[in-house]
Parts: sequence; C-alpha cells; structure tokens
Amino acid sequence: MAEKDMFKEFKEHSVAEFFKKNKQMLGFSSSVRSLTTAVHEFVSNSLDACEEAGILPDLYVDIQQVGEKHYVLKVRDNGPGIPPDIVPKVFGKLLAGTKFHRMIPTRGQQGIGAAGVTMYAQMTTGKPVHVKTSRGDGKIWEMDVMIDVKTNTPIVKNRKSYDGNWRGTEVVAELGDVLFNRSKYSAFEYMRRTALANPHAQITFVDPDGKKTVWYRTSFEVIRMTKEGKPHPLGITVDDLMTIARVTKARKVASMLRNELEAVGSKSIAELEKFVGSALLNKNPQELEWHEAEMIVKALRQMKFRAPSLDVLIEIGAENIEKSLRANLKPRYVATVTRKPKVYSGGIPFLVEVGVAMDGDIKGFELMRYANRAPLLFEQGACAITQAVQSVNWKRYGIQSLNESNIVIFVNVVSTHIPYVSAGKQAIADVPEVYEEIRAALMEAGRKIKEYTSKLSKAKELAAKKRILMHYLPELADSLAKILGRDPKDVESILSDALEDRYRKLKELEEKIGAGAE
Ligand SMILES: Nc1ncnc2c1ncn2[C@@H]1O[C@H](COP(=O)(O)OP(=O)(O)O)[C@@H](O)[C@H]1O
Ligand SMILES: [Mg+2]
Repeated sequence: MAEKDMFKEFKEHSVAEFFKKNKQMLGFSSSVRSLTTAVHEFVSNSLDACEEAGILPDLYVDIQQVGEKHYVLKVRDNGPGIPPDIVPKVFGKLLAGTKFHRMIPTRGQQGIGAAGVTMYAQMTTGKPVHVKTSRGDGKIWEMDVMIDVKTNTPIVKNRKSYDGNWRGTEVVAELGDVLFNRSKYSAFEYMRRTALANPHAQITFVDPDGKKTVWYRTSFEVIRMTKEGKPHPLGITVDDLMTIARVTKARKVASMLRNELEAVGSKSIAELEKFVGSALLNKNPQELEWHEAEMIVKALRQMKFRAPSLDVLIEIGAENIEKSLRANLKPRYVATVTRKPKVYSGGIPFLVEVGVAMDGDIKGFELMRYANRAPLLFEQGACAITQAVQSVNWKRYGIQSLNESNIVIFVNVVSTHIPYVSAGKQAIADVPEVYEEIRAALMEAGRKIKEYTSKLSKAKELAAKKRILMHYLPELADSLAKILGRDPKDVESILSDALEDRYRKLKELEEKIGAGAE
C-alpha cells in the first residue's frame, strides 16, 4: 500500500484500527521483527536528535524479559532532551512525526515513529510508555504516555519534575508478543549494524541474559546537520506536495510552491500558470485536493529548474567506514568508496558509499544494507542494493564466489528521500540512477579488491612452490651429500637456508597484504 492510501485510511478510522490493519507494514509483524522495529524507532530518534544538536551520541539499550514473549525495552541517550510539553505529542500521537516532510537525510524517515511503539505497547500489554527527559537545564521530567485511540491524542499520567544534573532522554516500553534472539533479523543484529555505520556513537547493549556488548567510538567527529534542504520540484511526489500543503504557512498554492520548494521563483510560477491556471495557484493550500496536486506535479515535470543543491547529504565517509570495519570486524583487508552526490528523478540528491572487508576474523558472506546509516534488515531480496551486488561480476576482481568467501559488503545509500519499495521501508526501489550508482560504487571497490586478491593468489602460488621444494629437500640433500661426501644434515641446512632466502620475498608479501588500503 502506498503512503497516500495509508494517510487516507488513517483519517477515516480510529488509530487503533489503522494500526491493527497496517501493523505488518509498519514493521510490527513477527515477534522478532516487532522488537527490532521498536528498537529502531527509539534508537534512530536518539541518533537523529544527537546529530541535530551536534552531540557525540552515547546510547544505552537494555532488553529484559519479564514473561513469555514479553519484554521491557529501555533506550537511553545523552541527546538534547525533549521539551516536556512536546513529549506527549511525540509518544502519544500517531503520525505526528516531523521528519517525513523535512528534506533532511535522517534515519527517522524509515518507520512510523515513536508513537507507533506506544501504540504497540498499549495493544499488547495495556501499559504506557515511560519517558524521562532533560535538556540539561537542571530539571528532569518524567511521565507515562498512552494514546487515546478514539481521538489520536495523548493521555499523560504521573507527570513529575525534579532537580537533577543530567541531559538526555530515556524511554521504557513494555512490549508483548515480541521475541529476542540473535538471528539476523534481531534487535541485537540491528544494534551491531547500527554501531558499524555510526562510528561516532558509543553503544552499550544489554540482552535479556544480562550479556553486555559495548561498541566503542572509532570516530570523534561530531556529525552535525548543517542545512535543511527544500524539496526540488522535479523530485517531488504528489504525496509530498499534499503533506507540504497540510503543514505550510503559505496562504496560496503559488506562495507555498515558492516558499517550500527549491529553485521555484516568480518566473516558474508564471510558467506553471500556463499549465494549471491561476485559480489553482490562488487556492488555499489547506484545500488542495489530490488530483490538483497531481496536476501541479505533472506540470512541474515538464519545466526546467536549476539543479538541486547536493550539500545536504550526510555521508559516513570512506575513512570512517574503514576504521569502523577494521575495529569491529577485524578483517585482513578493507576497501572503501564514497561516491560523489548524484540526482535521481531529476531532483532528488543522493549518494552511495561502500565498504568491503575481507578475511581475518570474517567468516562467510554478509551483505549489510543501510539507508541514511540506519540498517535495513528485512526484504533483502527486493532491494536494489542486493540486486546490484548480485549483478557485479566479482570473479573479475578475484572473488570466485561471494558465498564461499569471507567477505562483508557494506552499502549505505544517503538521500533526503530514499526511494523505498513499499511503506515497510526495508528495501530500496530499483530506480535506474540509484541502482547504477550502487553498481558503480561496488565496481570501484572491486578494482581496489583486485590488488588484494591478486597479491593473495601470488602469495599462495609461491607458498605452494615452496612446500613442494621443502618436501623434496631431505631427499635432495641426501643424494648431494653422497656425491660430495659430506654430512647430509649440513647439506640440508645449507639448502634450506638458501630456500628461505629465496622466499624471503614471500614473507614480505604476506605481511604487506591487507596492511592498508593502498
Ligand atoms: N530521544 C530523543 N531526543 C530528542 N528528541 C526526540 C527523541 N525522540 C524523539 N524526539 C523528537 O520527536 C520527534 C518525533 O519523533 P518520531 O515520532 O520518531 O518521528 P521522526 O523520527 O520521523 O521525526 C523527533 O523529530 C524529535 O524532534
Ligand atoms: Mg523517529
């Protein structure tokens, strides 16, 4: 189901019904996935908030089992805190999230938002979500939040505040019909992959058995969101336009387009008027109807605009990816690629970055997909990243078969608007520009890998030759000793010294392999 239908349905039914009907698609499907989704909603909010405030994130995630398929999830951050008056809306009103219509490459684009977890908790355990937050102003706030399902408004209980020196947010949710394990779809895997793609974060994870895992920071660069881009007229969808119309302060459609879109000036408006007429442009945006938005989007596609600005994208960076992969996976070799920003659909900026780690402690093949640094664990087969990886001829780069190699392929797609396949937001759609760019990034990484794999096969060849020579050495030494009339032991040691000398290069070569991205 497309997002537009979701919104329509949302208006017509109570939130409880809406949620029940769309639960699967919102990530609350299997019991393992539901827990992962809840973790994603809280953790992505924490990381996004830290980023917006320019704070190096310190995250603490704790999952306790309290019954069969019944767990308590706690997520704590050192972020900017949430103003106490906003807390009810964030956790107690479905689809009140702010980011879905903001053109910033946040993780929050993926998922229904924090209130979705409240809804799930409430439906499966009847319990509220407990929030503790402080902006570091000496005052700590705590409250329990639920959702009034008839009106989609927050119900707040046990609200209190007290003095204290702390900054951040801690959310506790009791969830039913969820399951913790360590499968590739689990909350643990989600955190492991989050840590890999967020080297500037320190993350502590405590699982239901009390086992603690800490992923330490490998980058001390504070990631800061510098600029919020506006959507580009060529990249905008009808749904985007409807959302903008709902939240804009502009009184007329014309001024809405000028204020809320990039590269739209009075000239463009005059041109647009020829396509859609002045009545529509003078209309109040609040009253904009779907078919009218459709007309506008269609017309915009036929016009020319200045290219979108590309500096809104936040990449992890090749160097940071390499450090993170080395520290966390202990591979023998790492190749990384960060491509330049590109545009898809004529107006949406995006970029692709890739890391490939091989051998060392890595066992088997693992593909790690990310959208704006948030891991994508589900719907792997439907994802353009997977298809791009499969389309590359890895043999050309010295990898006979991915499945038989010890290799991790890490792909992060960054965009102000990730083109997801469906509302589940776990797979990236097969948009030609994006697909080709992922392929290009993989092949660029492949060319680097080639240096490693060819050195490796040369070293293997030399080692095999040496083994054969060593095998025949005692026999050879014996015969020579007889001819020369010397002690076979002496001859053998002379020969083996010579051989070692001959193969000193092999040692050097072996040491060099994987020592760094050359
Ligand atoms: N841990 C947090 N720290 C600071 N602000 C938060 C936190 N969690 C949520 N928020 C605020 O609540 C808003 C709504 O969150 P959410 O419903 O998940 O939607 P989205 O992530 O798409 O914005 C966020 O945009 C942010 O402003
Ligand atoms: Mg969110």
